[in-house]
Amino acid sequence: MTAVPVAGHVVAGSSQDTAELYRRHLGAGRAVMGAVLGGMVETSSEGAWVHTDDGRRYLDFGGYGVFILGHRHPAVVEAVHRQLDAHPLATRVFLEPVAARAAAALASRTPAGLDHVHFVNSGAEATEAGLKLARAHGRNALVTTVSGYHGKTLGALSATANTTYQAPFAPLLPDTTRVAHGNPAELEAALADRRDRACVILEPVQGEGGVRIPPPGYLAEAARLCRAYGAFLIVDEVQTGLGRLGTWWGVDTEGVVPDVLLVGKGLSGGVVPVAAMVATKNAYGPFSRDPYLHTSTFGASPIACAAALAAVETMSREDIVGRAALLGRRLLTGVAEACGPHQGRLVHEVRGRGLLIGIEFTRAQAVGEMLLELVARGVLVNHSLNATRVLRLTPPAIAGADEAQHFLAALAESLRAVQARLG
Ligand SMILES: Cc1ncc(COP(=O)(O)O)c(C=O)c1O
Repeated sequence: MTAVPVAGHVVAGSSQDTAELYRRHLGAGRAVMGAVLGGMVETSSEGAWVHTDDGRRYLDFGGYGVFILGHRHPAVVEAVHRQLDAHPLATRVFLEPVAARAAAALASRTPAGLDHVHFVNSGAEATEAGLKLARAHGRNALVTTVSGYHGKTLGALSATANTTYQAPFAPLLPDTTRVAHGNPAELEAALADRRDRACVILEPVQGEGGVRIPPPGYLAEAARLCRAYGAFLIVDEVQTGLGRLGTWWGVDTEGVVPDVLLVGKGLSGGVVPVAAMVATKNAYGPFSRDPYLHTSTFGASPIACAAALAAVETMSREDIVGRAALLGRRLLTGVAEACGPHQGRLVHEVRGRGLLIGIEFTRAQAVGEMLLELVARGVLVNHSLNATRVLRLTPPAIAGADEAQHFLAALAESLRAVQARLG
């Protein structure tokens, strides 16, 4: 198909037209990346698969952690269709039942005491809400972790430990300090200097930080230290929550109840963007008392909440958490086996929990090469934004044995190809 010019514009038809529109309107860098990855244009999706306009399909074991239910889970699509036909966006004058039911469903799954839900449209907005809530309690000194990732809006970016993303926007939030993830002694030193005024934000397992799993007991100890030093604790489960680690939440393994839990990605059901900040009654107080203190026009929209409600119900009904744990164990074993022959030379380490698996290479160049080799074999994965040597796998829990096998075969072939090329 050729481009149809309309008053000096290009209308997308072929993948070349799409690339040209990207270059003109969305950004040259993104257009170049698309070209490097083969110039394909994605047009539809279902389950574990994404389809491109040239009739090919790709197994999506990436999706930046969104697709724990796969793409377009039928139960979520149906709920969203129904909401679309009834009432997609609210007046915000009356009360609206879908937001109420979605909040109740989510709260029924979060650790006991985390009952108050503030819906937003992205993970970064959930972080913003958490940081503002901490400030409303006088916790203005931000303690974040080395390699932590919490989004890219200005407040969230202050907590995201990546100077490449931060430097152009400095100065960010004042009184921010970083401590090593997994190191309670460093955390305690930071809190001792900031008694009764710190807000700690951390991930149970660092996702963008390269699938960094802290030592057992770290989360419980971090929570204890926060209590001891009067700090507000935000646990960011935007990536790790909703079954990704083979448990509902990363905090479950250590029985931790933070002041605030951040949820995103999988809450979309793979259909409509939605995220949430979930807080204890005491923490939520300022937002509860004044409903206009922190708002956004589209927050808690019925269409997004219909997706969130269906996602949480579907996860329970289909035992997505149990399936994530089982599939995660199989895949981690398979990935470790495929990487075994390359250990030391190409591969430094394989690590994972549930369906969050990282392959750390001995050099960053291997990650890009692996992405290309896997795409050539019909598989999509991601790199880690805060760890250049780590390839990150976030497969859907609904993937079957055939799909796991397809992935592992493609991985083994790709590793051999990259090893042969890089030596
Ligand atoms: C742990 C964590 N927090 C926050 C975010 C930001 O979410 P979003 O990209 O939806 O703003 C991400 C995104 O990857 C994340 O992994």
